[in-house]
Amino acid sequence: MARYPKPAAGSWTEHYPQLGTGPVSYEDSISPEWYQQEREAIFKRAWLQVGRVEQIPRTGRYFTKDISAANTSIIVVRDGDDVRAFHNVCRHRGNKLVWQDFPNEDTSGTVRQFTCKYHGWRYGLDGSCVFAQQEGEFFNLDKADYGLVPVHCDVFAGFIFVNFSEQPAQSLREFLGPMLLGVEDYPFGQMTDRYAFRVECRSNWKVFSDAFMEFYHAPVVHVGQHLSPLRAAITQMGYEAPHYQVEGAHGLVTTAGSLHRVWDMPKENVKPADLATRSGLFGPWDKSDLGELPPGINPGKVDPWGLSSFQFFPNFAILIWEAGWYNTHQFWPTSHNTLLFEGNVYSLPAKSASERVGREMAAVSFKEYSLQDANTLEATQLGLESGVIDQFPLNDQEVLVRNFHKATADWVHEYEHELAKA
Ligand code: FES
Ligand SMILES: [Fe+2]
Repeated sequence: MARYPKPAAGSWTEHYPQLGTGPVSYEDSISPEWYQQEREAIFKRAWLQVGRVEQIPRTGRYFTKDISAANTSIIVVRDGDDVRAFHNVCRHRGNKLVWQDFPNEDTSGTVRQFTCKYHGWRYGLDGSCVFAQQEGEFFNLDKADYGLVPVHCDVFAGFIFVNFSEQPAQSLREFLGPMLLGVEDYPFGQMTDRYAFRVECRSNWKVFSDAFMEFYHAPVVHVGQHLSPLRAAITQMGYEAPHYQVEGAHGLVTTAGSLHRVWDMPKENVKPADLATRSGLFGPWDKSDLGELPPGINPGKVDPWGLSSFQFFPNFAILIWEAGWYNTHQFWPTSHNTLLFEGNVYSLPAKSASERVGREMAAVSFKEYSLQDANTLEATQLGLESGVIDQFPLNDQEVLVRNFHKATADWVHEYEHELAKA
């Protein structure tokens, strides 16, 4: 029997009738042709999160980011109050403008101007071409015509988003919509302790994202994190979330606090390392006091509240935890069956050595869990690619997975429709 009430329609899935309840095809996760369509329809048209404003605190601070799915690299730079983004391509003869040591690796730093490593053309922070070497050798060259190619860029709650459309169909705020805008007043800007990691994985970007949209797998994939007296009980108990929400292509799942209060468990059931550091996957046990949180963090009014996982279509998620910290996941496809996963863990700056140890423990636990997922998802990709089965049943806890695959298909089909009209 369900531990939490379902919506009046009988289930979360039926509460969103556009989703249907039938089996779902995963052809979208094994087809190279479909991935090419996703690149055009989604990664070159949706707003994509690329970093935080704290990464570029002063004028001239920049970072670059390769976005394989959009077939480009970008430069994101602070220019006074403005955050700007440009394609990372020199206007003279197409050299990748900003890189260090290895052309295909991202970099960051501080500059007054960007100087091309090939023939020394220079660009201001606003992208304008300010110097062409031996300018007189060119033919009627007007530098004003040769600024860096801008990329639409906007900031929400300190998160920097870019959009590769010539003219985005929606502003960033319209694209995000009310549910995601609800996180706006969370004190992200104060949480400057950051642990980051990235890993390359051999699975489709959606197959990987799926595992971060449902907790149905948690009592199985992650049970090894627990000491043996608990394992059988956890697997048998299963998991259920008290609240799901779908808003267009975006999603939200909220968990209840009582289910993951590791610190309330009998001590013999808690890992010695967690006990010693008073920390673990669910973050440091000693809660950071952030004051009252905005109501949009827990729109389902789940009490006791544990965490809210906001899924930003297409490839970004913010998880806000009751203990006063947050983390992000991002899934960057590099081909139809490979991706780059980026995880970040953020909290208030540690005020003592023990707090620091707690934060590091939380970060390594998070990484350990993510790698458990990554391992399984490579196996899932192999199974899907065998092509033996195409129709897969999804349960009510997989409602966000169902919505996500539908949303990617909708974006591809709408784009094709637009092209056909043009
Ligand atoms: S390609 Fe950049 S200066 Fe020539
Ligand atoms: Fe997982």
